Amino acid sequence: MRILSGVQPSGELHLGNYFGAIVQHLALQHEGEALYFIADYHALTTVQDAARLRELTRDVAATYLALGLDPQKATFFRQSDVPEVHELTWMLECVTGMGLLERAHSYKDKIANGIRPTVGLFTYPALMASDILIYKSNLVPVGQDQVQHIEIAQDMAGSFNAAFGQEVLVRPEARLSEVPKVPGVDGRKMSKSYGNTIPIFAAGKALKRAVNAIVTDSKDPRLEPLDPTTCNAFAIHALFAAPEEREALAARYRDDRTFPGYGVTKQAIVQKMDERFGPARARYEALKKPGSELEDVLRQGALRARALAQETVAACREATGLGRRLT
Ligand code: TRP
Repeated sequence: MRILSGVQPSGELHLGNYFGAIVQHLALQHEGEALYFIADYHALTTVQDAARLRELTRDVAATYLALGLDPQKATFFRQSDVPEVHELTWMLECVTGMGLLERAHSYKDKIANGIRPTVGLFTYPALMASDILIYKSNLVPVGQDQVQHIEIAQDMAGSFNAAFGQEVLVRPEARLSEVPKVPGVDGRKMSKSYGNTIPIFAAGKALKRAVNAIVTDSKDPRLEPLDPTTCNAFAIHALFAAPEEREALAARYRDDRTFPGYGVTKQAIVQKMDERFGPARARYEALKKPGSELEDVLRQGALRARALAQETVAACREATGLGRRLT
């Protein structure tokens, strides 16, 4: 079983990315042949600053490797190291009706949120379909917001095979894991576009500052019960805590009128993050330094991925009647 997913390097990775995707990706590397890539071509729709794109790409790579992505198990690479993906994108676009992309929610949401409607933003799902189909992926672990893109990839695979009368491309399936809701410091979904994130590798003062920014209500715990079900700090702590621990804290909120207040929960979050991410921090910092093994890991991954991609593209060239690649 081939598992594939991509991560856009469009901002510093945060707890929303961690609980929403990274945990699943790391677990799945033991369940099949995993390919994970840093979707820098996709990020170009929004990040248009070379130094920043390079920095963010390194950041995603270092984060995954520091947290336990094993490049011996999973093929880990940078999307733009496999330019063949654009050849397949074009072939897919030629068998795809405009309506399919016009119905894409994510495009509509993005322009509603002020992102400039470029052609690249519009054809984003075709490139994503190509990412998936070029590696003959069976399973694509993604969040709910990406499910429609997988359906688009399924459609495109079907249209391509139907148009050229051959089962060249493999129909992928989405894998939606049970992912917890991760609220940002303001209570909305944690997202870099809302500026409400807590970065995975924040440490020391920066970590305290990020956690202290969690918005809580102004109830006085000496006078009235606090409500764990509406408290952002409680919800973020709960992501790290064992069930008994979570219950114990909820009980203090409700029943303990000597409970000092939300500062306790925030301190506990800092402690949990230090425990969970502390050991990986040094490795993350080392990987980010120029000259670390990071480039080599991505290069090795790209060599493997590219060989697979070239095989699929060769079959698609053959099926369509395009010329064979000259060697
Ligand atoms: N669009 C995905 C996201 O923003 C990233 C991505 C690009 C991707 N290509 C992919 C995910 C292929 C899965 C498969 O999260």
